[in-house]
Amino acid sequence: MKPDDELCLCFHVSWRKVINYIRVHRIQRPSQLAECGGAGTGCGWCRKQLERLTHLVTEVPPPSDEVEQWLADRSPNKEIYAQGRSKYRQELGLEDRPSDRSS
Ligand code: FES
Repeated sequence: MKPDDELCLCFHVSWRKVINYIRVHRIQRPSQLAECGGAGTGCGWCRKQLERLTHLVTEVPPPSDEVEQWLADRSPNKEIYAQGRSKYRQELGLEDRPSDRSS
C-alpha cells in the first residue's frame, strides 16, 4: 500500500489521511475515526485496519519523512485488500460498487 491509496474504500479515505488524523487528534479508539471523512462507517470492511492502524500509529509512530516505507512494511497488498472487500460485501449481500457510500 502507498499512503495515498484508499484505506476506506466506501468513503475514499486514504491511509495518509487516517495516519495524520490519528496523530493530530491523538485518537485512542478506532470509532473516533468516523470523524475522519466517515472512515469505517460504510460496509465495515476497513474497521479491522482502522483498529490496527490506530494501535500501530500510537505504539510505533511513523517518521514523517519515511511514511511510505513505514506503511509498506505494515499494510496489506492493495489488490488483495480490494478483492477481500469485494468478497466481504458479496457475503453480506451488498452490491460491489467501489464508490458505494451506503450499505
Ligand atoms: S471500506 Fe470502509 S466502511 Fe467500507
